[in-house]
Parts: sequence; C-alpha cells; structure tokens
Amino acid sequence: MTLSNSYRQITGATAVAGVAGSPVGHSLSPIIHNAWIEAAGIDAVYVPFNPPADRFSHFAEGLRGGAVRGLNVTLPFKEAALGVAHEVGERAERAGAANLLIFNEDGSIVADNVDGLGLLGAIAAQVTGFDPKAGPAVVMGAGGAARGAASALIMAGAPEVRLVNRTLARAEVVAGAVGGNSKAFSLDQAKAAFDGAALVVNATSVGVASDDALSLPLEGIPVTAVMMDMTYTPLITPFLSKARLLGHPIVDGLEMLVRQAEPSFEAFFGRVPPPGVDVRALCIEALKAREKAPA
Ligand code: ATR
Repeated sequence: MTLSNSYRQITGATAVAGVAGSPVGHSLSPIIHNAWIEAAGIDAVYVPFNPPADRFSHFAEGLRGGAVRGLNVTLPFKEAALGVAHEVGERAERAGAANLLIFNEDGSIVADNVDGLGLLGAIAAQVTGFDPKAGPAVVMGAGGAARGAASALIMAGAPEVRLVNRTLARAEVVAGAVGGNSKAFSLDQAKAAFDGAALVVNATSVGVASDDALSLPLEGIPVTAVMMDMTYTPLITPFLSKARLLGHPIVDGLEMLVRQAEPSFEAFFGRVPPPGVDVRALCIEALKAREKAPA
C-alpha cells in the first residue's frame, strides 16, 4: 500500500482528545471534531474510546497528566465522570453529570458540562429570537438528560422549569436537585404544566418508537411554544413530527450535539472551530448511511 500525500501523520506532537462511551461506535462526535481538525489544519486527532462499563474511573485515572487533552463523556459514564474530577464546574455540579473532562498537565482533572450550552445554542440556531427568560419551560422526563436540561434552563434565567414525568417521585428529586423555581408534575398533570409554556423539551427516552410517543400527552401546549427533542435518531422524532404538525417551531437533538461540540473543541484545542464546515450535513450523511447498513 502506498501512502497518498494527504495521509495524516500521527506523531508524538499530535494533540489527542476523544469521546468515552459504552457503546461508543454510534457516536457522531469523531466525525464532527475530526472534520474541524482537518479544516483548521491543526495537528490533532479525536478518538472514540470504549472503556469497560465498570472501569471508567480506572480509564480516566490513566489519562491524567495531559497526554490526552480531554474527553467528551457520553452514556453511561456522565455521572462517573463527575466522580473522577478534582475540580467540578457549576454547570456540571448542577447537572449532576459531566460531559467534558479536561486533563491538565499537573495531573488534575476538571469536569464541565456543556450539554446546556448545546441545548441553548441549538434553540438559538433553529428558532429566531427565543429568549429562555421569556416564559416557563417544560422538561419531559426525570433522568440524566432531563436534569441537564432543567439545570441549564434555570442557569439561563428561565422564570420557571416544570418537570413532567411518568414517575412523579423522580421529577420531585430532579426539581429538588436543580433548585431555582422548578416544580414536578405527573403525566396526568401535564396540561397544567403546559399552561403558558414558552418551551417544551423532550428529555425522555420516548420518541424512538412511534408507539411510545403516544404515551406522552401533548395537549394544551401554546402553539407558540418551541418544541425540542434531545435525541436525534431519527432526526425528526415522533415527538417533533407531532409538534411540527401542530405548527410549533421545532429544534432537533442533532443541533444540540453539534452546538455542545463547539465549546468542547475550544476546551481541547484552544481555538474555536473553523467556520464553513457543515458538520451537521456530515452527521446527517452518517445517520443515513447507518439506516441503510444491515443491522
Ligand atoms: P437518561 O438518564 O438518559 O435521561 P433515564 O434515566 O432512563 O435516561 O430516563 C428516561 C426517562 O424517560 C424517564 O423520565 C422515564 O420515565 P420514568 O422516570 O417514569 O421511568 C421516561 N420514559 C421512558 N419510557 C417512557 C414511556 N413509555 N412513557 C413516559 N415516560 C417514559
């Protein structure tokens, strides 16, 4: 095999960052970051890591010292990532999870959570003139994704965050943890939660199969409310498809992924991503190729 001129040399000087997840094969982050790295012409590489599910702390400990600049962290390690950090930023603290770890040369690990920046950046990118301070936000769900969304909205100045969940007790726990003006509602109380809402975020795992989507009541949401889904497989989830039919402005989870990647890239490589790279289109291409591939 001969190497083409465009062959990328990986040397001892190459900066390394990556994403840790289990599984991690589905992660679109390597596509996003490596496209930016190439366009920026920097000597760096972004690698997917698949540590054993019960060995995250060993894995992260092994990266201390700065040989690897940092990691994005995805399921199921976002909570464990908090535990390995020596310094935890307010965003990660409030979210109860980290999606970004930075490995300093002095051996310390800093945890951050830029999912909230991704959520707000995605809304700003896909809906003109939305202000999180303008009205109550509803977050459907009470898992890690819901807690991240609720804490980001509280920090962005949402006047009220209403957590609606099938299991009321879980919503109460999240409302207590994120603080601010947050309240818990059961699915039966969803109509009251939707009253006057400016934003509704689906942070449940529902929406993957259309049958499940029927189990989320969506009646009574003001048609002006922005509707956002945090998942992106499919890109237009049943939740978003229903919202669009009802005439709502919609925001998809892929935009959130791309927008959280921007501050991550800056944290790893000390510069903003280069302009003019349509990473969203690259991700959509990858998702389409996956749909066609035999399971
Ligand atoms: P994550 O940490 O990724 O957010 P999770 O902790 O599994 O995931 O949370 C999934 C969320 O989807 C929960 O809020 C769950 O509701 P429960 O707390 O009652 O389990 C919600 N969910 C899952 N399937 C659902 C369904 N069919 N109808 C309504 N809510 C559902």
